[in-house]
Amino acid sequence: MRLEAVRKVYGDVAALDGVSLEVRGGDAVAVMGPSGSGKSTLLNMVAGLDKPTTGTVTVDGEDVGAKGEAALARFRRRRIGMVFQFFNLLDDLPALENVALAGRLVGVPARKARARALELLDELGIADRRAAYPAVLSGGERQRVGVARALMNRPALLLADEPTGALDSGTGEQVRDLLLDLNRKGQTVLLVTHDQALAGRCATRLVDFVDGRIVREVAQAREPVK
Ligand SMILES: Nc1ncnc2c1ncn2[C@@H]1O[C@H](COP(=O)(O)OP(=O)(O)OP(=O)(O)O)[C@@H](O)[C@H]1O
Ligand SMILES: [Mg+2]
Repeated sequence: MRLEAVRKVYGDVAALDGVSLEVRGGDAVAVMGPSGSGKSTLLNMVAGLDKPTTGTVTVDGEDVGAKGEAALARFRRRRIGMVFQFFNLLDDLPALENVALAGRLVGVPARKARARALELLDELGIADRRAAYPAVLSGGERQRVGVARALMNRPALLLADEPTGALDSGTGEQVRDLLLDLNRKGQTVLLVTHDQALAGRCATRLVDFVDGRIVREVAQAREPVK
């Protein structure tokens, strides 16, 4: 994934003010910075949910900014997995169907999608919660369903915006371990977080944002797992 000189202007606010950033396959990059510094805007550009005012965004070899709406939606569903602070699960679908739906949306037959969804829930340790609706799941369980959904179509890039932001310290820990484990298995991850423990545990690179600009970018050795 590569951003080149990306600017995004909303009215008279430059949410991104000339950002260049490369995330290579296998990287786990954590973006940190104060509220309003442009972190979510950055993820929105990468996911093609919004277009840069100027500059280019390339993901998995494709120019995201140049795509039309339909092509972009297809690309996003197939190549990008997104994990959200507040999970964004569908309340009227059980866990398994929330995950399987991501496959159904790219044309995977129902049975195959359910089988893959179950395999993912199993890998994430919540197969026994497959029939539960989001309302009765704990925060940590909900986020694991959210991660399973994001992984459903084997994305080139996993994006996460404050994935532990709504979790208590115990369930946050599960999600930190999970993201670390996924990256160790080769999943490329770009995450935005205020959670120092998450960044310290998971990221191979740290990027600090202030006022829509990268002010620091460092490689880091991950904290050893206890
Ligand atoms: N759709 C929008 N319309 C207008 N202004 C926006 C929009 N999205 C973001 N902004 C503005 O752009 C700036 C960056 O916002 P952004 O949401 O990217 O910050 P953030 O770093 O994710 O903050 P937080 O840590 O609070 O989530 C802010 O000034 C915000 O008000
Ligand atoms: Mg944000």
